[in-house]
Amino acid sequence: NIPKYVKIVEVGPRDGLQNEKDIVPTSVKVELIKMLVNSGLQVVEATSFVSPKWVPQLADAKDVIEGIKGVSNARFPVLTPNLKGLEAALAAGVKEVAVFAAASESFSRSNINCSIDESLARYRDVASAARKLSIPVRGYISCVVGCPMEGEVHPSKVAYVAEELVKMGCDEISLGDTIGVGTPGSVIPMIEAVKKVVPIEKLAVHFHDTYGQALSNILVSLQMGISVVDSSVSGLGGCPYAKGATGNVATEDVVYMLNGLGVKTNVDLRKLILAGDFIRKHLGRPSESKAATALKKT
Ligand code: HMG
Ligand code: MG
Repeated sequence: NIPKYVKIVEVGPRDGLQNEKDIVPTSVKVELIKMLVNSGLQVVEATSFVSPKWVPQLADAKDVIEGIKGVSNARFPVLTPNLKGLEAALAAGVKEVAVFAAASESFSRSNINCSIDESLARYRDVASAARKLSIPVRGYISCVVGCPMEGEVHPSKVAYVAEELVKMGCDEISLGDTIGVGTPGSVIPMIEAVKKVVPIEKLAVHFHDTYGQALSNILVSLQMGISVVDSSVSGLGGCPYAKGATGNVATEDVVYMLNGLGVKTNVDLRKLILAGDFIRKHLGRPSESKAATALKKT
């Protein structure tokens, strides 16, 4: 009873790279995105139009977007934390954006320097400006099961933020286990609470794999009817404002599992592994994807 097709939202170039200390050259980011699209991925989150003081790695957002102009067959959403970010993204030619709220007050403060309700007010402005231009807006929620400062997060807090994001016009809500602490034991009740206020078709899941629980969490999410999964090539990533958070679940591992389940993704695993090799060679650290590592030995 799981979806026949799953849309993978590749977040490696954004969530994956944002935490890297050494600046990755724009040309490497552009080549990575091209390789990801070449593997069949149809949505690649390309970068963020955030404050370069907060996330220096993505200060070249405009140049990345310039570099992928002309790449067809994929959508390239970006993160926009405020109207300033939206305006810069639009000026660069971006066609889709995402706002990012949190289900925990402490995390909201450390990530975007304001309370949850202040962020929602800001995002209402971003969403209404975007919608006037028919720009789709995705809404992220961080810390959906746990917060690095507050510990367990109650499902009602997630449902509250999700409902507000949908009301302001977000087309898709991505539920983020920012620090990867969730298990099916906490993820299932969280999704149950959210799906009471947001149609399941609008939900996506975004698991970091810190505790090795991401694939189990994805499987139960699929069983509950979710068909959009965020992941990061070779398991790149982590959030700069979430200490101890490691990468997102590796896209290769997600594709391997979905292939095994007979679920279509449109992704060519071999080509995806080449994209992972490319960025890992540049970073000088081995892949976090078990499937990629195993397949290269066969
Ligand atoms: P602030 O310091 O409160 O804002 O930051 P401010 O309005 O006072 O601006 C401070 C400076 O930043 C000013 O420059 C602004 O012009 C500039 P100055 O006058 O000092 O030279 N600024 C900008 N510059 C470029 N683009 C912009 C922009 N906005 C302001 N859009 C702010 C507030 C939200 C801007 C800041 O906190 C920020 O940029 N935060 C981003 C943090 C971030 O990117 N975190 C990672 C993404 S979220 C994530 O990873 C979780 C997710 O993956 C899901 C999950 O796993 O849970 C999505
Ligand atoms: Mg994330």
